[in-house]
Amino acid sequence: MKSVNDAQYADALLNIRSYFSNSETSIHKARNEIKIYKYKEDEFVIKSFKIANLLNKFIYTYLKSSKAERSYANSIRIADFVPKPIGYIEFKKHGLLHDSYFVSEKFNFDITIREVLHKSDFPDRENIFAEFANFTFLLHENNILHLDYSPGNILIKESDGRYIFKIVDINRMIFKNLSLDERLKNFCMLWAKDEDMKIIAGYYAELMSTDKEYCINKAIYYSRRNKKFKNIKKRIRGKPVNV
Ligand SMILES: Nc1ncnc2c1ncn2[C@@H]1O[C@H](COP(=O)(O)OP(=O)(O)O)[C@@H](O)[C@H]1O
Ligand SMILES: [Mg+2]
Repeated sequence: MKSVNDAQYADALLNIRSYFSNSETSIHKARNEIKIYKYKEDEFVIKSFKIANLLNKFIYTYLKSSKAERSYANSIRIADFVPKPIGYIEFKKHGLLHDSYFVSEKFNFDITIREVLHKSDFPDRENIFAEFANFTFLLHENNILHLDYSPGNILIKESDGRYIFKIVDINRMIFKNLSLDERLKNFCMLWAKDEDMKIIAGYYAELMSTDKEYCINKAIYYSRRNKKFKNIKKRIRGKPVNV
């Protein structure tokens, strides 16, 4: 077992496994599961990562750091852009990594960018897109490339007419100086309609003080390419396609 955390939460972290299996506060279950943890006055989010196959157990034990550890390390590195990290803990079984948990403060967001993208009459939509372009620009200026920059990972809280953005699902990131094309490509997982991408990329171009037409065309190109690629994969798996 390996644990790294804010000292005041050490006990809570050590009991996380039993808490997690007994708790019925699940808010999300996909490949990993997310539960809310109430501790004294505060609320935290626990993300549990399980490793199903033996090969990956070897890889994560001997070659790669766990997703929980990477989530924590990345959060510490980009603190302004994420819910506050609390700690992570890893458990082994028969000498191999079996499950790991990453804990962060619960961010009381109002919406994700998904709702704004999906509803063409969403209140203050254009403004939210402008602030979203600004937030993404700040990430990029800080050499942060989120490799899963998809709508459910972009949380938004309204505060006095402004919007506070935080990103989650941060175990896969690259830190490097980004070219203009790498920046524009980063918008491609939003599944934005062309006309929405035009607005977002337009604001982004202004922030970069660069050619608007070029940015819009490139962002739409990458977005369409991503949709096409994902839809091919869906068709192969017999799943319904998106447009
Ligand atoms: N710190 C947090 N505060 C509030 N909600 C969170 C937090 N972390 C995750 N969530 C919620 O859980 C959802 C899934 O989290 P995520 O880390 O993206 O898991 P997954 O890998 O399954 O996509 C998010 O879309 C968000 O609604
Ligand atoms: Mg996610």
